[in-house]
Amino acid sequence: MPDTLLRFDTLEPLRAQVAAWRRAGERIVLVPTMGALHAGHLALVAHVRAIGQRAVVSIFVNPTQFGPTEDFSRYPRDTDTDLALLAEAGADAAWLPAVETMYPAGFSTRIEPGPAAEGLCGTFRPGHFSGVATVVTKLLNQVGPDVALFGEKDFQQLQVIRSVVRDLDIPVTIEGVPTLREADGLALSSRNRYLTPAERETAPRLHAVLSHIAERLAAGAEAGPLVGQGIAELEAAGFGPVQYLEVRDADTLAPVTRAARPARVIAAAYLGGTRLIDNVAVVPG
Ligand code: PAF
Repeated sequence: MPDTLLRFDTLEPLRAQVAAWRRAGERIVLVPTMGALHAGHLALVAHVRAIGQRAVVSIFVNPTQFGPTEDFSRYPRDTDTDLALLAEAGADAAWLPAVETMYPAGFSTRIEPGPAAEGLCGTFRPGHFSGVATVVTKLLNQVGPDVALFGEKDFQQLQVIRSVVRDLDIPVTIEGVPTLREADGLALSSRNRYLTPAERETAPRLHAVLSHIAERLAAGAEAGPLVGQGIAELEAAGFGPVQYLEVRDADTLAPVTRAARPARVIAAAYLGGTRLIDNVAVVPG
């Protein structure tokens, strides 16, 4: 395997490289990202390399998944640092399409995902999952990987992508990757760098509250009162607004009142100007 990171800004050379790897019998794994890479992304790359597969990392801050009042323009972009980190982690290729490459003049198609995109973030970010589904479909068609990895932190996104890939017969295996956390429980996220020092101290409460609810649900408790208490606790800690805190089935995302099957406690809440999301698995005992 080469020690150097190959960088692609245009599609044809990327496709030629992937085709060459495929002819050599190698497996290709795509790690789609919006850059501002953190230890979670790099652990994925290291994992792909450790199992002897080719790691292609896309970096593209996708304008179509941001709403008009969201953080598209201030989303952190530092391509040089990202590329240095990818080279160090042993990634094989970085795919860096420009916005005009991804959405050339005349681009007019959008994927509309089904029920997995309804509720939760779908309620608070209209059009978001259509933008995600469209760009991920394009990335999968561009790279043609055997496997694509997506973090479980964006749990609804993972289910939306699974449903799009299934419905459109895209020949790829989608793998969810467990959330990496700081020592105090805060889920790793590119947006954590927006937090002030005081907010950073408060932020792990989100994981703590979700974990407590997940434990009680696993022990047979009912969701409704736990969710109410959880929202109150988050607000008392300084979060607000809490956009949602819900318990959903881990496969179908249907609302759950008692966890008889694997479920997820899932939430989105603002802390100051930063929107944090997280979720914790409920494994019924
Ligand atoms: O999770 C992300 O970083 C983005 O939503 C993704 C999957 C790269 C699509 O732009």
